[in-house]
Amino acid sequence: MLELAKALQRLAVRGRPADPLLELSPPLLRRPGESDFQIIRDIAWRSWASAYGAFLPEEDRSRFFAQYYTKDGHRRALASHRTLFLLAEDERSPMAFLLATEDAGRVHLHRLYADPRRQRSGAGQVLWDELIRWTRARGATRIVFEVASDGVSGPQFYRKQGCRPIDETVMPIGRVPVRVMRYAFDVSREVRGR
Ligand SMILES: CC(C)(COP(=O)(O)OP(=O)(O)OC[C@H]1O[C@@H](n2cnc3c(N)ncnc32)[C@H](O)[C@@H]1OP(=O)(O)O)[C@@H](O)C(=O)NCCC(=O)NCCS
Repeated sequence: MLELAKALQRLAVRGRPADPLLELSPPLLRRPGESDFQIIRDIAWRSWASAYGAFLPEEDRSRFFAQYYTKDGHRRALASHRTLFLLAEDERSPMAFLLATEDAGRVHLHRLYADPRRQRSGAGQVLWDELIRWTRARGATRIVFEVASDGVSGPQFYRKQGCRPIDETVMPIGRVPVRVMRYAFDVSREVRGR
């Protein structure tokens, strides 16, 4: 009985049940190392399967990954001084990653993918916020990127951030012509607006 009373008191103090899922800390960001290659590739692979699987067959995704997700490419990204390469994780698992490069005042966001098992947990937002901070710190003013038009989560996420669709183009991935929307986000304009 005493134990029950103590438990109820703990609950009242904390205001919510001691559910471990509710007690996860926010995603933490860190720079990946060489040994994170497979973790990052797996996040991207699962994210692509879930977001693009309906219009991009596995064979074409495989070809793309064999060409663009290599250990060498991973090492080059780690070594580059004009690259932001970050992994978001919490105590449960790696969640998402971001890869962007800055060139002459313009940042190209190459990759932002969240593991579908951990999507909508705020990792994408934490990475995006850090990208904005990094862009400002480098004195760059614009972020540009492409997103598959037929995905759902990507276009929705960037709309939420206030990104501007510029134009649509077609990018061959394996044998499939994939429609992609080019977006821009002006960091300086956003600063003035605050
Ligand atoms: C876009 C993406 C990186 C966002 O990562 P995330 O960790 O889920 O994002 P957050 O939890 O921080 O933000 C959630 C927001 O993303 C959007 N979103 C994420 N998943 C969504 C889904 N399944 N359906 C609709 N919107 C979704 C929504 O705007 C959502 O905000 P809301 O929950 O207030 O509606 C992730 O959904 C993803 O990997 N998508 C597939 C690949 C892709 O399109 N990447 C961008 C190409 S560069």
